[in-house]
Amino acid sequence: MIKIIPAGLLEEDQEADQFYRGTIASYDRCAARYAALNDSIDEVKDLLTFFDEHIPCGASLLDVGCGHGRDVEYLSSLGHLVYGVDRSEKLLGMARDRVPKSHFLEGDVRALPFRDRSFDGLWMNAVLHHLVPPHMPRSLAECHRVLKPSGLLFVSVHLDDSSGWQAKGPDFVRYYARISGTMLTELLQNANLTPVRTTSRSAESRWLHCFARPSS
Ligand SMILES: C[S@@+](CC[C@H](N)C(=O)[O-])C[C@H]1O[C@@H](n2cnc3c(N)ncnc32)[C@H](O)[C@@H]1O
Repeated sequence: MIKIIPAGLLEEDQEADQFYRGTIASYDRCAARYAALNDSIDEVKDLLTFFDEHIPCGASLLDVGCGHGRDVEYLSSLGHLVYGVDRSEKLLGMARDRVPKSHFLEGDVRALPFRDRSFDGLWMNAVLHHLVPPHMPRSLAECHRVLKPSGLLFVSVHLDDSSGWQAKGPDFVRYYARISGTMLTELLQNANLTPVRTTSRSAESRWLHCFARPSS
């Protein structure tokens, strides 16, 4: 079992909190729609396969920003012990119903409620770009902290040219930070994480997928 600890305190940041509250409220409001639109693992299947091939059998894993639990369900089906953490109560409720044997906690990537070196792998798909850039170093430092020295982190981001609100319908409005490939590499390196494989995808939008391991 993984030991759950009280999360660290988050600093006050009124401007950022406004973005976070709006984004999470939107995920809560549109949870069913988000889950329906993102129910297939097809787009991430090759990435999940690479991840599975590079972690131990029966690994301890954390899905950071696990949403409705699609990837927790898949990784659990491969025999791993998977925890999920997210800020959206509604998406977490769906995840709990979907994968009752897994463990889901409400929490923030900036203050993960786990002991140091708890996990063999961290899976963080489409989450980091919802943070304001000044909060990204702390988030990746948290990933490094809870990852074992031999662990593997997966992080994917939506590549945007500008930061701000993006709407997918009138009631589904989320904050996205501007983030580039160079910036992601620098953020990882500054958090003592060495990228080991980076790929990109351009479909309706541009994405960067990066696997990284602790450098020290
Ligand atoms: C685009 S969704 C991705 C969900 C899931 N990883 C997937 O691939 O379907 C972004 C998720 O990040 C969560 N999230 C946003 N900010 C967060 C934060 N600071 N800490 C933890 N989760 C966060 C949202 O609630 C949402 O579930």
